[in-house]
Amino acid sequence: MKKIALTAVALTAAAALALTGCSSGGGRSDTAASGGTSGFAADAKIGIALPDKTSENWVLAGDLFTSGLKDAGFSADVQYAPATNTVAEQQNQISAMITNGAKVIVIGAKDGKQLGTQLQQAHDAGVKIIAYDRLLENSPNVDYYVAFDNFKVGELQGQALLDGLAARSGHAAPWNIELFSGSPDDANSAVFFNGAMSILKPKIDDGTLKVVSGQTEIAQTATQGWKAENAQSRMDSLLAANYTSATIDGVLSPNDTLARAILTSVKQAGKNVATFTVTGQDSEAESVKSIMAGEQYSTINKDTTLLVAQTIKMIQSLQQGQEPEVNDTKQYDNGVKVVPAYLLPPVIVTKENAAEAYKNSPSLLKIVQGG
Ligand code: BGC
Repeated sequence: MKKIALTAVALTAAAALALTGCSSGGGRSDTAASGGTSGFAADAKIGIALPDKTSENWVLAGDLFTSGLKDAGFSADVQYAPATNTVAEQQNQISAMITNGAKVIVIGAKDGKQLGTQLQQAHDAGVKIIAYDRLLENSPNVDYYVAFDNFKVGELQGQALLDGLAARSGHAAPWNIELFSGSPDDANSAVFFNGAMSILKPKIDDGTLKVVSGQTEIAQTATQGWKAENAQSRMDSLLAANYTSATIDGVLSPNDTLARAILTSVKQAGKNVATFTVTGQDSEAESVKSIMAGEQYSTINKDTTLLVAQTIKMIQSLQQGQEPEVNDTKQYDNGVKVVPAYLLPPVIVTKENAAEAYKNSPSLLKIVQGG
């Protein structure tokens, strides 16, 4: 899959270069015939600023950007925010990319509210900004957003929790559940949670679901830094305080790393994971194994190869002086403007549809087939 996607990107790049009559590495500044906006050199510098490596998808994205941008003829500068002093380091990395002459900077923000100064600097220098996976907030200087449909991710997680409870708990409603959300500094966390609550809240209100701890506000459910240890210790406390005699039937978990931490806590408390439902996201290898072993109930497939390929397509349009294609101009209001977005569809994955869902992902398919 990775190979096919990258080859496709390279071919598109070659075709685009042929059309503009420019050779890769020629260093010319091209202006597209249509649109009238000026493009930039076909071998221009492109900055990729990614957050700390809280999930496998971020690691994969860095590798795919490095190879995909190189294949497309650009000069890629891929940086991760380090685990400590993360926000300040990401701010410095973005400033350095601007100073070094990047024409486009793609940002997977550590904290999308704290880059306003750098985004203004970029705008003043004529650098285009693409928010990648996480929206950049409270700034007019965000040109495009490319992501999987995050609200839909939440809806799929909420529905999966309901389906898993009915299939695994061994009893009819009401079901006892707890809710987890992601890191409060990540704009996606609220979108995932709101999507899930759009499905779960009516069921809490009608008594189908009971949040035994009473913790239903996003602030009460947050997992700082998307860290497994924070989810595990909150789950330990929830179990100790509320479930010494009551049964816990399920947990809404916003991603795979946290789902596995929650499962560890449930196991350590001596609870039966076969009748317990926990959701996830990212299709991390360890979670796909857990799903096939009948522990984690669901994950979400957000194929990083597709997201990176779509981003590179946007960069190629900008290089040619054209407007990149978007398919949503309504949903992603960053507090100052609605950012034109290209959203890809997420796919829910359980044991039942895993073989189909991963048919184009050889390493995950191998896990599903027991390899
Ligand atoms: C991403 C998720 C990921 C989380 C933690 C979010 O912004 O959309 O896929 O699980 O960050 O890394």
